Amino acid sequence: MPTVHFIQTNGQTTSLEVAVGKNLMSFCRDYGFTEIVAECGGSALCATCHVYIDETQGTVFSPVNEVESQMLEFVASERKSNSRLSCQLVINDHCDNLKVYFPDSQI
Ligand code: FES
Repeated sequence: MPTVHFIQTNGQTTSLEVAVGKNLMSFCRDYGFTEIVAECGGSALCATCHVYIDETQGTVFSPVNEVESQMLEFVASERKSNSRLSCQLVINDHCDNLKVYFPDSQI
């Protein structure tokens, strides 16, 4: 099972095993990370599940599609080249040691 490192804005890191096939937003909410709001429940309609994927690891996921890219225009914190909507990301075999950074704010 891949180990994913979740990094909060204060630098605190929580390392957790996440099952392959698990939606990243759902995992964060189930675990209780309050940094992920996910108002729309994963429909790519709210942009409150924003995360930053480590810049060296972005290729472990499919590229940003047009719908995700449009929603990323509405994130509360700065959109960066490594910004993703966590509801659009599914953990896969390449995610071991993935670093996921939470943004300052979702709203
Ligand atoms: S949960 Fe709403 S866009 Fe991801």
